[in-house]
Amino acid sequence: IAMLARKGSAVVRIVRERNERSKMRDKFWDISGTALGSMLGVQKKIEEDFSKYDDEGNLDYKADSQYAKSMGNFEAVSDFARSKSVKEQREYLPIFSVRESLMNIIRENRIVIIVGETGSGKTTQLTQYLYEEGYTSYGIIGCTQPRRVAAVSVAKRVSEEIGCKLGDKVGYAIRFEDCTCDQTIIKYMTDGVLLRESLNESDLDQYSAIIMDEAHERSLHTDVLFGILKKVVLRRRDLRLIITSATMNSQKFSEFFGNSPVFTIPGRTFPVDIIFSKTPIEDYVDAAVKKALEIHLQQPPGDILIFMTGQEDIMATCVLLNERITELGPNIPKIRVLPIYSQLPSENQARIFQKSDLRKCVVATNIAETSLTVDGVRYVIDTGFCKLKVFNPKIGMDALQITPISQANANQRSGRAGRTGPGSCCRLYTDTIYREDLLENNIPEIQRTNLANVVLLLKSLNIGNLLEFQFMDPPPQENILNSMYQLWILGALDDLGELTELGKKMVEFPLDPPLSKMLLEAERYKCSSDILTIVSMLSVPSVFYRPRDRESEADASREKFFVPESDHLTLLNVFTQWKNNGFRSDWATNNFVHIKALRKVREVRAQLSDIMKSLNIPEISCGNNWDVIRKVIASGYFHNSAKMKSIGEYVNMRTGIPCILHPSSALFSLGYAPDYIVYHELTMTTREYMQYVTAVDPYWLAELGPMFFSTKENFQEIERKRQKEAKNRIIEELVASKNKEENKGQED
Ligand code: CDP
Ligand code: MG
Repeated sequence: IAMLARKGSAVVRIVRERNERSKMRDKFWDISGTALGSMLGVQKKIEEDFSKYDDEGNLDYKADSQYAKSMGNFEAVSDFARSKSVKEQREYLPIFSVRESLMNIIRENRIVIIVGETGSGKTTQLTQYLYEEGYTSYGIIGCTQPRRVAAVSVAKRVSEEIGCKLGDKVGYAIRFEDCTCDQTIIKYMTDGVLLRESLNESDLDQYSAIIMDEAHERSLHTDVLFGILKKVVLRRRDLRLIITSATMNSQKFSEFFGNSPVFTIPGRTFPVDIIFSKTPIEDYVDAAVKKALEIHLQQPPGDILIFMTGQEDIMATCVLLNERITELGPNIPKIRVLPIYSQLPSENQARIFQKSDLRKCVVATNIAETSLTVDGVRYVIDTGFCKLKVFNPKIGMDALQITPISQANANQRSGRAGRTGPGSCCRLYTDTIYREDLLENNIPEIQRTNLANVVLLLKSLNIGNLLEFQFMDPPPQENILNSMYQLWILGALDDLGELTELGKKMVEFPLDPPLSKMLLEAERYKCSSDILTIVSMLSVPSVFYRPRDRESEADASREKFFVPESDHLTLLNVFTQWKNNGFRSDWATNNFVHIKALRKVREVRAQLSDIMKSLNIPEISCGNNWDVIRKVIASGYFHNSAKMKSIGEYVNMRTGIPCILHPSSALFSLGYAPDYIVYHELTMTTREYMQYVTAVDPYWLAELGPMFFSTKENFQEIERKRQKEAKNRIIEELVASKNKEENKGQED
């Protein structure tokens, strides 16, 4: 615990330092024009990056389009057409040399664990081998990935190798996007998609083989799938299950699956020189850029791979590196700086695989650790940090936090430098930190997240006693009970812990339980269409665009959309106006709204709308009767309610934790201060900020969340007030009658 606490404080320190650094380098939101305003602005920018609870599906179009402009647009064609034949490339991969024995072991065993270095060909080749061996004659081949980016890019690559159009023979399915057809026989998908499929078809009959790729990542969905697939294999003797992992930690997988055989693909790796930092690093972005420049100017050819934490750091690194190179003048050899992170639009992701005459410098999240292989990397720069989704039981939410990596991560990272020849890895931390502070292995996601959706899923799969489900590493009982509690307060589970009618419907939505509750509740209040829009708007990051040189213009435009009592209604307002303007892109541009984000919202909305249809929920709009919308929002978020302490400052009504309005909130900007609010999420930096806030009537809270709130206090207050008024009235009457009498007396 002491060690974790130390790490925690390191994280806070880094956040602060990054804060300072950003403050110096950039101009940010200047909300009130005061020092406080700009300070909050800095935080806002950083939080934007931290706040997204989902590592997937949220695109920051602004950063990317700005970057694309500064880089010029590359044609998104892989180098395939230009280089070696497909056959030659495939046969060069390490996995090819063991193809025969690999296929034999799969034929003879229903479950096989395959271990191999990253880049040995597991992801791209296994599916094709199975196809070539005839496994698709009685079903399709599914391959799961813990990351969306990997699912899409690998499907693209394999479709090229096979020589078909993407979405034809080879396709992919990720949340909100299904790129497959009846002809598809090799299907790449996120593990979440397969989990969902197992809901509708518990034996996964359409598959003849399932490859669970990147099992070492131990994503939440992977872990749940493990438990489910273990049972499916018992029922379906024809199904082949293949688990692949990049690490040597395969014994555990083997044991979990009844001592299944482990097949190791012989690696083809070169020595990597590891250089630790002598002293702890203050600012890893700056340090990484310096190191990259040093390598670029002094070292022989070979691409550079920098491991950064997340999108914001990646963009900062790219911009800084390009700036430094420009500053050094025209005589310096050029370099091609390429960002890669899960939310980067896929057309830009393809760039990292293109051949280039210039030295490439890829700046990546831990996605490049094992999910994607960039050939030609000889130099790795490792910051020692990554971003992880961590559940904070104190406030009951998941948040992305910058966290030190594990030793296993560090070794994977350095391994990336030795794929095509000897290489080197610069670790921006000391060897003492490596030995003493870093954990040996990652903590599986299941042990650090909010399990509510998993609980819903498992419940709907008729797994009665969750505490008995076969998890490879069971989550702490406390977390399971916590999630069950969250579902119970939302009405998804009954007092006995069984799925209610509401809960059964909630499983259908790939959303956080409070959001699906809102959608379902909207039916009763006849505003399903409006809530559908709000929920979809919440699935992308801020739709507002704020170019550096036109900040005040952008802010003025943003303010026009503000609905004083609700950020949710503000979002609804934006979408409605866009719709009323024929979904036009010039309307979006003129109003400083990201058109791509809006289009994504529309896509998500269409998907959710289909689910609503399948549940026979009609789409109805309540028009301008926005009070009911606020009430529906409260029905999903009453557990996130706060009461005003002073203007802009609130205290959480359940926990008593102080929290403040986010500077991007309409309520903040308009200085509107309702007594009671609910919020969508909290973001943590130095203080707890509430994001997406809506004013509510306290009586709604009592009605919707009777387990937390009662109007007793209010009644007492009202009663006191009533008695006081009654007393006053009596006094008044007395005085009046006395006066009357006196007057009467005087008259007499
Ligand atoms: O899964 P594993 O790490 O074992 O390897 P893989 O992803 O199948 O990669 C095999 C080869 O395909 C590598 O040389 C990659 O560089 C290449 N590849 C690619 O060029 N483009 C992709 N989208 C994916 C892989
Ligand atoms: Mg792979």
